[in-house]
Amino acid sequence: MAKKPYYITTPIYYSSGNFHLGHCYTTVICDAIARFKRMDGYDVFYLTGTDEHGQKVQQRAEKAGVTPKQFVDRLYDQIVALWKTLDISYDKFIRTTDGYHELTVQKVYEKLLASGDIYKSQYEGLYCTPCEAYWTENQLKDGKCPDCGREVTKQKEESYFFRLSKYQDRLIKFYEENPEFISPKSRMNEMINNFIKPGLKDLCISRTTFDWGVKLPFDQKHVAYVWIDALTNYITALGYLQPDCKNFDKYWPADLHMVGKEIVRFHTIIWPAILMALDLPLPKKVYGHGWLLFGDDKMSKSKGNVVDPFFLVDRYGVDPIRYFLLREIPFGSDGNYTNEALLVRTNADLVNDLGNLVSRTAAMVTQYFDGTVPAPNAYIDLDKEIILLCESALEKVRADMEALSAPDALTDIFKIVQRANKYIDETTPWTLNKQGDKERLATVMYVLTECIRFAATLLKPFITRTSNVIFDKLGIKSPDNFDGVVKFGGTKAGTKVTKGENLFNRIDVEKELKLLDEIAAKQASDEQKNNTSADEQIEITDFAKVKLVTAKVLSCEKVAKSDKLLVFKLQVGGEVRQVVSGIAQHYSPEYMIGKTVVLVKNLKPAKIRGVESNGMILCADADGKVVFVTPESDVDSGKAVR
Ligand code: MSP
Repeated sequence: MAKKPYYITTPIYYSSGNFHLGHCYTTVICDAIARFKRMDGYDVFYLTGTDEHGQKVQQRAEKAGVTPKQFVDRLYDQIVALWKTLDISYDKFIRTTDGYHELTVQKVYEKLLASGDIYKSQYEGLYCTPCEAYWTENQLKDGKCPDCGREVTKQKEESYFFRLSKYQDRLIKFYEENPEFISPKSRMNEMINNFIKPGLKDLCISRTTFDWGVKLPFDQKHVAYVWIDALTNYITALGYLQPDCKNFDKYWPADLHMVGKEIVRFHTIIWPAILMALDLPLPKKVYGHGWLLFGDDKMSKSKGNVVDPFFLVDRYGVDPIRYFLLREIPFGSDGNYTNEALLVRTNADLVNDLGNLVSRTAAMVTQYFDGTVPAPNAYIDLDKEIILLCESALEKVRADMEALSAPDALTDIFKIVQRANKYIDETTPWTLNKQGDKERLATVMYVLTECIRFAATLLKPFITRTSNVIFDKLGIKSPDNFDGVVKFGGTKAGTKVTKGENLFNRIDVEKELKLLDEIAAKQASDEQKNNTSADEQIEITDFAKVKLVTAKVLSCEKVAKSDKLLVFKLQVGGEVRQVVSGIAQHYSPEYMIGKTVVLVKNLKPAKIRGVESNGMILCADADGKVVFVTPESDVDSGKAVR
């Protein structure tokens, strides 16, 4: 019988920066789902790729002094290496600079023009370059981009527009008829309340202010809006509008677009509307997962964590990293990454539970039965309880994966592992051996071996390496499907078991955390050195972000128990500010009173030695001495320094 197709996609990754552990989250989850579905009898097509056009890429390339193509090629190599490191089993990798993709995007634009879904007009709006998105005034959060919190700039250009507003009612109807389309449910409400209800506006889908993009076939001055270019990847990769479109015929519509929550809007409003305009069926589900947070940040900028996936995999192995990502973060919600959480999780589940079960069982089979799995004898109730647990596991795990919850699936699989460990304590095989009860001992060893086989089979989609190591130890061929975990008793008596090395080694958490802190501190200082030594040039707009003003010192005192810090009260125009500065070894408080200093006015407030500081006084380093900066002639306080 022909296998049922299953088409799963990750977003295509921006080719504009360094990839961190957060980026691996979507891809590892999709990989576990794809592997699970393959083992469960589906014909899976798993797509990932890179999003290589747009203003952001062009700007980064200019800054790096290379062409955009050279720039994206470098990042492409990096991300392909990353997915290899993490055992990502994608079936196709698409780059938006691939010729077939660019050509098809052009055909899509032509089709949309022909159907009357595109028209030309003027666009004026607030643009967030990092997110490649226009916003209206009231969509901004505190005047900044609501997605990433960065500055937006006013841009005006002649543009082509897509008649998004025309699809508003059809979209609402589609959501109503397909309540599972946007998952989890909370994201559906978010989309309806925040975007659909206020009314959909037509979407500007071409740009003229830069040229790193797909040129519109009917107006070469314009390049395609990067999001239309990017979203289309899901069909161009399958051969849509191309001579060989058998994959498109077989796999479209997608079963699942897995995306981070910040890009649900693009996938559940813009993408379906484009598909409607193209007269194509809509994907079955868009799942918006939560973020892996570093501190309270989605990016990995926070200090004190080593979140370079290459480093982590190199140090702990691929399975602990995959396991952590899949197990630790409640699916659909945000979850925190800390080094400690990773190490504790590895020790608890992989070293203690799984590692111990396998090494204890292999050691006992070796010691009591010369390394040969014995045939079981009559099962008692205790054994039957475990047999039931094993035989019911696949159904449970399948339901968990249907709900796309890898944490639940892993919890259910580990129930077998934990129950088997408890079974060892309950049956005390060493006592059975002492008592010479070989018959019962054989059954216990057999039950344990079967538990391991069940767990290792079910774990295969999640931790790709360890399962195979376990099968090697059990002397069983690693299975490609779940047929063997329907009925208990699959292990043949007489199978040779090898003890070998431990699956995982226990980590001394305290020692390791200290070491990781040291590594992170060194990385941060190297980075700082690199940044300053690179003489990186900034835009005038970057400089304008720093608000410098003159300020007059009203009072100045030493901070208690500190020989470095002074606390100032500064007159800044009509306002009085408290600021802490580390210049006590260079100036006495009395000397500073009445002086005019230059203050960084918009620095985030901080507590220094428990004293609130609202700004920073500018000083110059003068060969070991520190001197404060002051205007050349008398200036009132609160005046801008530029
Ligand atoms: N290029 C767009 C997607 C276009 S799809 C037609 C994009 N790229 S991205 O590189 O910024 O993000 C790729 C994926 O990584 C997204 O699903 C995003 O949510 C995910 N993550 C990036 N940082 C993340 C975390 N810290 N945590 C979890 N996932 C996050 O968006």
